[in-house]
Amino acid sequence: MNSCLLLNLYYTWGNGGVYMLARLKSSQSPDGRAKWNPAIHYHYKKTHDRSYQLSNFTRAYRSWFIQYIKSRIHPNEFRPLLSFLYTDLNCNLNCHYCYSWGKEIEGMTMQVAKDAVNWLQSVGCRVLAYMGGEPLIRKDFIIELTRYAAEKGFFVYLPTNGILMDESFIDEIGKAGVSVINLAVDAMDRYKGIPKYFNRIKPQFEYLVKQEKKYEYITFFNINITKHNVKDVKTLTEIAHEYGIATDYHINEPPLIEYDDFNHKQDGAWITEAEFQAVDDLVDWLIEKNLGGYAMVNSVEHLRAMKLFIRRRLPPWPCLAGKSSMIIRLDGSFTPCMELYGTDEDWGNIYDGHKFDPDRLTRQKQNCSPHCLSTCNFQVNHYSSSLINSLQWLAKHAYSNYLGVS
Ligand SMILES: C[S@@+](CC[C@H](N)C(=O)[O-])C[C@H]1O[C@@H](n2cnc3c(N)ncnc32)[C@H](O)[C@@H]1O
Ligand code: SF4
Ligand code: SF4
Repeated sequence: MNSCLLLNLYYTWGNGGVYMLARLKSSQSPDGRAKWNPAIHYHYKKTHDRSYQLSNFTRAYRSWFIQYIKSRIHPNEFRPLLSFLYTDLNCNLNCHYCYSWGKEIEGMTMQVAKDAVNWLQSVGCRVLAYMGGEPLIRKDFIIELTRYAAEKGFFVYLPTNGILMDESFIDEIGKAGVSVINLAVDAMDRYKGIPKYFNRIKPQFEYLVKQEKKYEYITFFNINITKHNVKDVKTLTEIAHEYGIATDYHINEPPLIEYDDFNHKQDGAWITEAEFQAVDDLVDWLIEKNLGGYAMVNSVEHLRAMKLFIRRRLPPWPCLAGKSSMIIRLDGSFTPCMELYGTDEDWGNIYDGHKFDPDRLTRQKQNCSPHCLSTCNFQVNHYSSSLINSLQWLAKHAYSNYLGVS
């Protein structure tokens, strides 16, 4: 498959680029809080023209597709397609379901961060996703690191709860060359233990979407399905669709490892039998929307698997953590995935190299995969399982409204 054919595919499919974008307007809910009313909005054209799409296509082609092809040509080499980099565990919020945050934990140093980028470059990885904690706890750090990685040809994903984002940061990170901004939002208004809600970040969100074309990044919503927010997930999906951005869904997962300092074992908004039917209905609705053309990161298979996962009936699945994806912790050490962040096992580090032994990984996944539905690793497995699927992934980037990793 050469680049001309890919560009041809892009132009053949690419007669779009004009999306209806809703200007969302607030109304007041009975308790006086702002509420999105889908019936009241102005439509205008989101003029994502061909140069915007071509730029997204080209970046994805270089950083995802070429590296994917190289990994197929050299199947015995360690060539992760993407790596998550934990820059901070500190966070300005406390989502009750989250076991990946802390307070006053020293963040990654810039030296380790740049060494990590250099190491990733040396093993042929060109997709870098920040992780935490909240990356925007240190905005200047993220801007400098993004500039450094983007100049080396990395496709940089920034996941954030968006609360510390302001117009100046959006312009700076845009100029630094970020590729995707993945905005985590779970509800329309606050629930106990769920502090990421749309009405809290709406101004930042609107500015983010407004500046997309100027800086040629892509925005999408990242939504965690919990016992509380089933209705909100639908509303957020409709908002994303109206704005012409994509969505990415997690199913709320209790931690696989015991963390002594995790205080929400009991009230992490875990899905129980009482919510099975509501979650099933939501999943069916999401599948219908996915097949109907709503821009979603999740494959239909991943959405379907959610029903089995909540019932603890998920069979082992071929997770590619430690092969096609990996994690770099604050100190530069490795682990296969976020779920195993707290493991004591030694998987290597950026200075001594990796210890992702395939047999050890296979044994590990027999135990963990039935209890885990990692959105990232499920998608990595899906989109890298064949050339057709990887082309689909590329096309999704070209249309700039389907993709995500976290
Ligand atoms: C750990 S956060 C870090 C980045 C940023 N602070 C944020 O909230 O996006 C990354 C993602 O993990 C998701 N997440 C956290 N805990 C989870 C859990 N127990 N189950 C499923 N997803 C979870 C969050 O919803 C978020 O989308
Ligand atoms: S999910 Fe993100 S915003 Fe929420 S506590 Fe965890 S790191 Fe912070
Ligand atoms: S199945 Fe889940 S816990 Fe196990 S290695 Fe993969 S992502 Fe990690």
